[in-house]
Amino acid sequence: MPGDNVVLVGFMGAGKSVCGRLLARRLGRCFVETDDMIVAREGRSIPEIFRTDGEERFRQLEAEALEALRSKRGDVIATGGGLPCREGRMAALRALGPVVWLKGDLRELYRRASLAGDRPMLAGRSFEEIEALYRRREPYYAQADLTVDTTGIGPDEVVRRLIAALRDAARV
Ligand code: S3P
Repeated sequence: MPGDNVVLVGFMGAGKSVCGRLLARRLGRCFVETDDMIVAREGRSIPEIFRTDGEERFRQLEAEALEALRSKRGDVIATGGGLPCREGRMAALRALGPVVWLKGDLRELYRRASLAGDRPMLAGRSFEEIEALYRRREPYYAQADLTVDTTGIGPDEVVRRLIAALRDAARV
C-alpha cells in the first residue's frame, strides 16, 4: 500500500540512521537511507560530491532520491538532515507514510554529529552558524506527523517511544 513506510527526519546527529535501523529490525521491515541511495548511485561519498559539485548538486540528487522512494512499500526510511528542508519536500515525504521528527537538544545533536561521520555541512561552521541553520530548518521538520524528543535518551528508548507514538496514531 502506498503511504505505509515510516519516514524519519531531523537534524544531523538526531540518530535517524541508528534508530531507523533498530526500528526496522523491531518492526521486521527493510531499512533505507537516502544518503546511501545517493552514494550508491553516484559511486562516490557525500563529502566528495560536496567537494566536486557543491551543495546544490547534492540537493538535486536528494530530489532524485525522493522521487525513487515512491516505489517503496513498508520500509523504514531515514532521510539526510537537509532533505526535507525545501518547498514541497515534506508533503512528498508525508505521501510515503507517517513522518517522524527525531527532535533533540541542539547542543547534544551538534556534539553527536561532530563526533561521528564526515559531514560537509558542519565543516568550517561555528556553533552559532549551525544554530542558525537549525532554526531555518525547524519549520520544515515541524511539519512531521509525529515528534519524538530524543534528549537524554539512547536509541533503545527512542525506538520504544517511536513505536508507541506510531501505534497511538494507528500508523503501524
Ligand atoms: C546533511 C546531512 C547529512 C547528509 C549531508 C547533508 C545536511 O545526513 O545528507 O551531509 O544538510 O544536514 P545526516 O543528517 O544523516 O547527517
